[in-house]
Amino acid sequence: MVDQGCISVSEEAGTVKMLTIEPGADLSAPEVRRTAIETLEGGGLIYLPKSGFELSERERELISDTAKILTREPDVQDGRPTIIFDPAHGRIKKYHYAQVRGKLMRAQVRDTARPDIEAIMVRYGKWSEDVINQLFPIYQEALDRKRVTYRPFARNSTQSLHIDSSYGYPTQGRGMLRIFTNINPVNRLRIWQLGEPFEPFVSRFLPSVRLSKPSWISAILARLGIVDGAKTKYDQYVAAVRALGIRDKEYQRTAPRKIMEFPVGASWIAITDLVLHGAISGQHSLDRTFYLPVEAMSDPSRSSLRILERMTGEALV
Ligand SMILES: [Fe+2]
Repeated sequence: MVDQGCISVSEEAGTVKMLTIEPGADLSAPEVRRTAIETLEGGGLIYLPKSGFELSERERELISDTAKILTREPDVQDGRPTIIFDPAHGRIKKYHYAQVRGKLMRAQVRDTARPDIEAIMVRYGKWSEDVINQLFPIYQEALDRKRVTYRPFARNSTQSLHIDSSYGYPTQGRGMLRIFTNINPVNRLRIWQLGEPFEPFVSRFLPSVRLSKPSWISAILARLGIVDGAKTKYDQYVAAVRALGIRDKEYQRTAPRKIMEFPVGASWIAITDLVLHGAISGQHSLDRTFYLPVEAMSDPSRSSLRILERMTGEALV
């Protein structure tokens, strides 16, 4: 453990490195920035126990009863569906569906609550940009500022250890830089598990990956602008490795992990395609996604794209 007053780095054998930035630390101090980049690009997690994003008393009161903000509760408590705010359009996405036990569901925000929920998400969007700009000024020009996600529903089932894949939103080799914040109104912790580093995880599952040819339908959807760009080989590899890891029950039972408890008011930052993680429990969190091009990194060779290219011996974008 390295301790320099306002920041400390800890590492448990076999799991991700963690940098803690104490409340009140200057995020733009050179030593904080240097350690933050080193941790983030190295596949670690940056933890801010009291990051400064807060809800007002009125907002806490509003979200403390989900029936006031949403038309119905899901019957399975796995934290879904979520609410997505798209900064490019300046509003909550109306038709964002999630699969909950095989059924397609969406979180339908009540008209009476929408202005307040949108205001929280807009404020979080601005705040998260500010934090990321302070910590990582070298990324500022290159970052693609994407969605804000609000998770109003409880999770009471453990999510498998996984890396994030682009899913419906191909990143085409860019990293998913994400910042998360626990905004629970009644002090409930958000609990995560964190797994092993990216490379040993990938080397375990890569030999079993069989890529199928990208379908012509997805190419057409991308060209028409219905999905956010075409899937590259990189996107396919990440999705395939992720799926193999999730399906492997023995791996999920025995993989190295550490449990992290995030209190209300805490935020945490990671490149989530590089960090094995899974939510365990909690309710009410916000997160913001940025796409980070590998050329903008201080060391592009540590990106999931370059690591996968090295391991497969192929150009993937
Ligand atoms: Fe995830």
